[in-house]
Amino acid sequence: MEQKRNLKPKCELYHDHFENHKRYPIQKAQLIIADIPYNLGNNAYASNVSWYEGGEIANGESKLAGTQFFKTDKNFNIDNFFRFVKRLLKPEPKEIGKAPALIILCAFHQLAPLIEIAKEHGFKTFNHPLVFTKNYSAEVLKANMRIVGACEYGLVFYRDKLPKFNNGGKMVFNHMEFGRLEENKIHPTQKPLELLKKLITLFTDVGDVVIDPVAGSGSTLLASKILNRNSYGFEIKRNFYKEAIKNINEVEPTIVNGQKTVQTNIFDFL
Ligand SMILES: C[S@@+](CC[C@H](N)C(=O)[O-])C[C@H]1O[C@@H](n2cnc3c(N)ncnc32)[C@H](O)[C@@H]1O
Repeated sequence: MEQKRNLKPKCELYHDHFENHKRYPIQKAQLIIADIPYNLGNNAYASNVSWYEGGEIANGESKLAGTQFFKTDKNFNIDNFFRFVKRLLKPEPKEIGKAPALIILCAFHQLAPLIEIAKEHGFKTFNHPLVFTKNYSAEVLKANMRIVGACEYGLVFYRDKLPKFNNGGKMVFNHMEFGRLEENKIHPTQKPLELLKKLITLFTDVGDVVIDPVAGSGSTLLASKILNRNSYGFEIKRNFYKEAIKNINEVEPTIVNGQKTVQTNIFDFL
């Protein structure tokens, strides 16, 4: 059960590289969630109708054909990322069931290499990846040629002790509905708020700290603020940063003056 108390969660998004985190007063995290760049090279929009002008092959290729999501994606340094995680995750606690966790949201092809790199940095993962299922796919152009992708993936990492786990006594399967994006889509790989709320509810309590070093639209911070978790994030693209700040400023925490404004515990999501 969530505690009722007066709490104004911190919610700070920095327009900077996460590598510059030492410039900012950031508390250590119970949970780091990172949707790392997919490194899809120049085929980020492959199979997607936006490869063509107006979504029509007859119109010829659009400016997105043969491009990556962002030029900066290829510069993403996974070892820098794990060094950041090691500095900013809370230390291992003495008690059982309170340890911090790292969730990486990623593409299928990143699962195996990430498990290996994480091991080199001292992190283990569970036997099963997170599989987020969708009943739609971006791969419209391949629909008559092959089975199309309709899942996204994730991995939960921890150091020694099992992470905090607020399952409320219920089984949580490793497959979950991805859901649909709510309004305010501002990023090509934006994650739905409800999905982030579910993950944050599972692995943290009210008042805990959540960090997203590659925040994009700020969806992790938005979900954290709504759930009265403190949050910090970084985003290098000015437009995303600006839009994210706008969205974050528009939401209110669910506990105001000690009163819950909406129900938020894991039973809402299962
Ligand atoms: C896959 S997107 C995250 C999308 C986000 N989960 C959402 O729901 O909107 C990754 C983001 O990381 C940003 N990024 C890449 N390298 C970064 C770095 N070193 N520091 C901070 N942000 C970075 C990119 O600009 C991009 O917007």
